[in-house]
Amino acid sequence: MITALDHIAIAVPDLEKAIKRFMEDFGLTFEGTEDVASAKTSTAFFPLPPTSIELIHPLNGEGPVQAFLDKKGGGMHHLCFRSDDLDADIARLREKGYQFLSDEPSIGAHNCRVIFIHPKSCDGVLIELNQPSDDHH
Ligand code: CO
Repeated sequence: MITALDHIAIAVPDLEKAIKRFMEDFGLTFEGTEDVASAKTSTAFFPLPPTSIELIHPLNGEGPVQAFLDKKGGGMHHLCFRSDDLDADIARLREKGYQFLSDEPSIGAHNCRVIFIHPKSCDGVLIELNQPSDDHH
């Protein structure tokens, strides 16, 4: 079951500049950065309860976030819904015809299991589903 809006992700061309903006101009709390090698992405999280803002930037100038920046220059990238039973939600949505970007979940930021729903299954919006590992919360 989907239980929360875990985060909203924004792709940024200059991560340091964007971190400064969210800290100094918007006054949000900077939780730190985390590289997700499997997604070729650097992330920076700003908790804004009950959700978070995630800034994303390509690792080593490659990968899907780099392709997004090349095309759009930056902008809203995805929403993430938190699930309390990721496998059940994937199965339920597959049954309804939803397509996913991968066959299986992978490990994303914060050690969550994550998977992305193809944007063409949701009116052009990229949606991530995640499930925190039990030792995280
Ligand atoms: Co995300």
